[in-house]
Amino acid sequence: MKTANTKNRFVGKDILSVDQFSREDLDWIFSKAREMREVAQKGRTNLLSHAILTALFYEPSSRTFGSFVSAMQKLGGGFIPLQGMTYSSVAKGETLEDTVRTFECYSDVIVIRHPEVGSAKRAAAVASVPVINAGDGAGEHPTQALLDAFTIVNTFPKIDGLKVALVGDLLNGRTVHSLSKLLVKMGKVEFFFVSPKILSMPQEIKDHVNKRIQVSEVEKLEEVIGKADVVYITRIQKERFSDLTSYEKLKNYYVVTKTLMQKAKKNMILMHPLPRVGEIEAEVDKDKRAVYLKEQMRNGLYIRMALLAAVLGKI
Ligand code: NCD
Repeated sequence: MKTANTKNRFVGKDILSVDQFSREDLDWIFSKAREMREVAQKGRTNLLSHAILTALFYEPSSRTFGSFVSAMQKLGGGFIPLQGMTYSSVAKGETLEDTVRTFECYSDVIVIRHPEVGSAKRAAAVASVPVINAGDGAGEHPTQALLDAFTIVNTFPKIDGLKVALVGDLLNGRTVHSLSKLLVKMGKVEFFFVSPKILSMPQEIKDHVNKRIQVSEVEKLEEVIGKADVVYITRIQKERFSDLTSYEKLKNYYVVTKTLMQKAKKNMILMHPLPRVGEIEAEVDKDKRAVYLKEQMRNGLYIRMALLAAVLGKI
């Protein structure tokens, strides 16, 4: 492993929100993720052989859970997988705080996904080991935003002038909340927020990004698909709806088809945090501009390897 050019600022720190990253932090994390890509492609290291991760997942997850576990193992560490909570003491009514206090006794870092906004912060308040937010309800998903931004800069190193369309459930989607806040730190992007009116981006995020850059809000993807360099489409977040009839009405609001992709720029990229539930037709997967099944997911592994090694003070 190469030594860091700049100092690791993350030793012992929690990763709770994208608000905590400076532009320099991002460059540093991305350079470490590139080093981790080499490590992961070659095999495994024993950099974190002293360490154990608890993956405390109160909500469903495939990629975030799987890539954190893989990241820990690629770095030689161990892990305690807690998914669903049916078989843990949570099912007996244990509080989040007590569960966190339990697993800090058994592990060196806790990765938490929970349905309540602010839950990762609550966990961090009682934990003496670093806590990483893997999604707090409709709040934030900072590690996803890092892997998304990493995917974007790897394709478009010059962020200034980049046109980014965020599409779908912008109200409830934590990935788009974190990503929009992160991208405005990186340069003068231009945003298209594309959603049905009732699922538009929360006002505080609009205010935050509006101060820095230009944002257009539209309902129809067709209106902007030809202009965007990045189209980032998301799932309508069924689990955040109290009324399932309105979910049923909205669930197929956006569908990216092969025909629609013909209107998109030749060198744009199509992203999705996944899972998709109909937002992108399978025939689009073969398009070379579709990165969601390739780079975007793999980058999640490299970013999470870098973050784990950083908070555990090994890079
Ligand atoms: C996202 C999430 O959990 O917020 N998934 C992920 O982590 N890749 C997106 C989603 O569930 O729609």
